[in-house]
Amino acid sequence: ELMGMIKGIHTMEERLKEQFGLDEVTIVHGDSDQSSWVKKELGKACANSIKQRLLAKNIIAVTGGTTTLEAAEAMTKDFADGKEVVFVPARGGLGEDLLNQANSIVAKMAANTGGKHRLLYAPDQISRETHESILKEPTINEVLQLIKSSTLVLHGVGEAIAMAQRRNTPEEEFQKIKDGKATAEAFGYYFNEAGQIVHRVSTIGLQLDDLVSAHDVIAVAGGASKGKAIRSYLRGAPKMTVLITDEAAAEQLLSES
Ligand code: F6P
Repeated sequence: ELMGMIKGIHTMEERLKEQFGLDEVTIVHGDSDQSSWVKKELGKACANSIKQRLLAKNIIAVTGGTTTLEAAEAMTKDFADGKEVVFVPARGGLGEDLLNQANSIVAKMAANTGGKHRLLYAPDQISRETHESILKEPTINEVLQLIKSSTLVLHGVGEAIAMAQRRNTPEEEFQKIKDGKATAEAFGYYFNEAGQIVHRVSTIGLQLDDLVSAHDVIAVAGGASKGKAIRSYLRGAPKMTVLITDEAAAEQLLSES
């Protein structure tokens, strides 16, 4: 019974890898919508995958969310194994609660691994003028340079409408997201089913095009409810090497494609 289950998961991983042209797919058992330990397993899988991919020197950019938070929780002192690691938030504020913010997550990653981290202080929903003057701040600019030279990016993926709600998105933007029939969200970018960008939250830091220059890009998201969002994102992602997901989302991904 157990061997059959493991074999089934492995077959699903191979099929997803082929279908979306990925280097690696890891599927953990269960449905993270249903049980919190499945999300913890997603976190552990992230920590392991990153550890395996470490170079001699690493700049690891991370987005916020409850799933990447589990990756931070799963990291331990033996993570870096003598290698140099700096954790940086991928983008400025995206309207997450303090606990789930990228800044908090990279601080936790550094604390748990004994690595370094840098924070990015940028308010949410900034105007163009503020944006431009913030970019000129030397301390912010230094962190932005680190972010742009990330060797590895770890990011979450969410459902568009759920994310727009969680972020208290202003009415006008919300309408744009709805009108654009957005289904997925990652990095503050909203995508429709075809993987096209329909809206982008204006904030500093990593932009979608920057992904191309990172050595590895790991997307982590699970739960049956995210199946459609993950598929939409996979269609639009400029680069992704690794997908870490759970069985429930993987079933959704394979069933309708
Ligand atoms: O807001 C940051 C973010 O990474 C989003 O880009 C993503 O949609 C969301 O968090 C995922 O959050 P969670 O893991 O809690 O579903």
